[in-house]
Amino acid sequence: MEDDLLALLGEGAHGYFAGGAGDEITLRENEESWSRLRLAPRVLVDVAERDPSVTLLGRRRSPLLVAPMAYQKHVHPDGELASARAAARTGTGYVLSSQTTTPPADVAAALGERGGWFQLYVFGDRQVSLDLVAQARESGFEALVLTVDFPVAGWRERDKRTGFRIEHPVALNPDGPALTTEQLFAMHDPSLTWDDVAELAQVAGMPLLVKGVLRPDDAERAVDAGVAGIVVSNHGGRQLDTVLTGAQALPPVVEAVAGRADVLVDGGVRRGWDVAKALALGADAVLVGRPVLWGMATGGQDGAAAVLDQLHAELDSTLALLGVPRAEDLDTSALTGR
Ligand code: FNR
Ligand code: LAC
Repeated sequence: MEDDLLALLGEGAHGYFAGGAGDEITLRENEESWSRLRLAPRVLVDVAERDPSVTLLGRRRSPLLVAPMAYQKHVHPDGELASARAAARTGTGYVLSSQTTTPPADVAAALGERGGWFQLYVFGDRQVSLDLVAQARESGFEALVLTVDFPVAGWRERDKRTGFRIEHPVALNPDGPALTTEQLFAMHDPSLTWDDVAELAQVAGMPLLVKGVLRPDDAERAVDAGVAGIVVSNHGGRQLDTVLTGAQALPPVVEAVAGRADVLVDGGVRRGWDVAKALALGADAVLVGRPVLWGMATGGQDGAAAVLDQLHAELDSTLALLGVPRAEDLDTSALTGR
């Protein structure tokens, strides 16, 4: 599969989308840390009817969301429209990257009634970010997801080697020349602090989540700043190598938050049983990244939808075989047997 993707995307794009930081230890551990967890199924439970839904930002919905991922036109010509339509078709949540290669209003139209969330980066030129927030609000996005683990780009050796350039228009560089990812990432504002988060929570005009928290003390700060949700994430292993994985960081964050905000997690979720494990550890929902891109690369909208359908079907099968028919009832007993 790795070879097929390389052939489809070419070395530069493949390295960017598949790759991680440093020695890619975290990239690998993200998947490993879900697969190492063991489930303790309860038998002879009536599982004839099953319900995968959870409550997130006060609404019943799927526990699965498509993670925000940049520059999707480099994966498939339909870009973000393909992943958004796939999410809408499969009842999956959707987070649009602020490094989108498709205008937010067009993605909102593709998402339809169910809508989506908008991921925000704060750029050195704050007006660029404020304009994005205004576009997100006007297009009907339901929430803002401020990514806080990207003051500077991670040490990405594949990109350094290939010099991969972004050729499609993005908010930071609408009509300009193709730029390397390093050039684009240098426009992020590294001076952002919790004070900015508190201010943004006030002016956003919609619920604010922060994405990229790995420590319980930071989770406390996020709650104090007024966020509605926290995404426990190491950015898919793309920022600092050898940090905690989502599976490792989640339980202490859940404990610190103590129900005061929704807690989501991502990184290395590849199977429906990984989703169940995340919910059992106390997550309210899970974001899935690269598998959606690989579906898109091979089959556009249909390919991405097939990936999302399969994840939902695997989750349904897991709920039945685990003896927990309602996803919302998952707790640590699914892992400990007591
Ligand atoms: C990302 N991620 C990301 N996150 C974000 O907040 N804004 C962004 O623009 C991007 N861009 C991006 C591009 C690519 C190619 C990848 C793979 C990832 C991180 C993403 O939202 C998520 O945290 C991880 O991808 C989840 O890990 P998995 O599921 O890919 O292992
Ligand atoms: C990345 C960014 C854009 O991980 O979030 O490449």
